[in-house]
Amino acid sequence: MPAKTNNVSNMTTRNAALTGWGTYLPERVVTNAEIEATVDTTDDWIVRRTGIRERRIAATGETTSSMAIEAGKRALDQAGLSVADLQLIIVATTTPDELCPPVSSRVQYGLGATNAAALVVQTACTGFVTALITAYQFINSGAFPNALVIGAETLSRFVDWEDRSTCILFGDGAGAVVLEATDGACGLHGFVMGSDGSGADEIKIPAGGSVEPATVMSVASEQHTIRMNGRAVFKFATRILAMAGQNAVVAAGLTFDAVDWVIPHQANKRIIESAARSMGIPEDRFVVNIEWYGNTSAASVAIALAEALDSGQIQPYDKLLLVAFGAGLTWAAAVVQPEPVTSSHWHERFESVVLSER
Ligand SMILES: CC(C)(COP(=O)(O)OP(=O)(O)OC[C@H]1O[C@@H](n2cnc3c(N)ncnc32)[C@H](O)[C@@H]1OP(=O)(O)O)[C@@H](O)C(=O)NCCC(=O)NCCS
Repeated sequence: MPAKTNNVSNMTTRNAALTGWGTYLPERVVTNAEIEATVDTTDDWIVRRTGIRERRIAATGETTSSMAIEAGKRALDQAGLSVADLQLIIVATTTPDELCPPVSSRVQYGLGATNAAALVVQTACTGFVTALITAYQFINSGAFPNALVIGAETLSRFVDWEDRSTCILFGDGAGAVVLEATDGACGLHGFVMGSDGSGADEIKIPAGGSVEPATVMSVASEQHTIRMNGRAVFKFATRILAMAGQNAVVAAGLTFDAVDWVIPHQANKRIIESAARSMGIPEDRFVVNIEWYGNTSAASVAIALAEALDSGQIQPYDKLLLVAFGAGLTWAAAVVQPEPVTSSHWHERFESVVLSER
């Protein structure tokens, strides 16, 4: 069993390039029309109040770890990084396979990443941005040369499908990115992270933890499903997205004008529109895919980022503002530039995309 040791005195500051990305979305699409058939709601209400048209739901046998592994493999392939060389895996999730062991160990084993340390970040929907910022720290400090950062959720297993105020919102999926140390001018330019535990009861899964372990009563009363004060969260979200975004941009020494794309947590289209107004950034500079996936919690920014990179919507040298909020209450925002302007990795990739499209 390889031991992980890092000699702090040997650490040097490095930049990190984002060299690979991938997603995994379950095949099963659940439309608003299908939800209409089970609870008192309408497609029109859901679209108007949230922007969501459909979401993906994991099949029996699909789990947070299986989706994380698939997204992780795709990101490693894209980066051309051998799994044997991978040093660190961080999995952000609120819906691990089990409370114990950490789902990151299942992901590490499933990938065959025998030389990687693995850990979980659990800051709810903020998770992927928190995990990405954390991974940058390990690479910037010289502690690790690379990292695989994954956001993965199986929220459908924690939703009360009879509660119309929550079951319309959530979906399953995973997104992943690979970071690798580089001397090029790119990486994490600035970030903020925050927590306000006074709002801890606004979104929660009350039972199944040490406060209320599973009992026949807790299961019968659906206490193992998501409970949410939608209006309070909405208010918090509209305020914090703009504030966290602003603070991260200031930490990067920039202004909103210098941000090419904002990739916000996909919780509600109206929250994103409100943040765009507060930031004074046109909505067409926001990456939005909530229509197709709903709120995939810790996976949402990861999926949006990976899809925008994949489609070429985001250019390699663009400055991106990633910003998320969630249960806790928590928030995080980061200004990142995936790669230096002159990166050969990206030029090769984009040339091959252009050639294959001819
Ligand atoms: C949940 C949310 C979509 C509800 O939308 P809203 O416009 O705030 O709706 P309200 O909660 O004010 O409810 C308005 C009415 O719609 C009803 N309603 C709620 N869900 C409904 C649904 N699916 N279909 C039809 N009506 C619904 C309510 O019962 C309420 O009826 P009433 O006025 O008769 O009491 C919205 O509050 C939200 O997105 N909040 C943030 C949630 C979030 O981001 N969570 C994840 C954080 S990471």
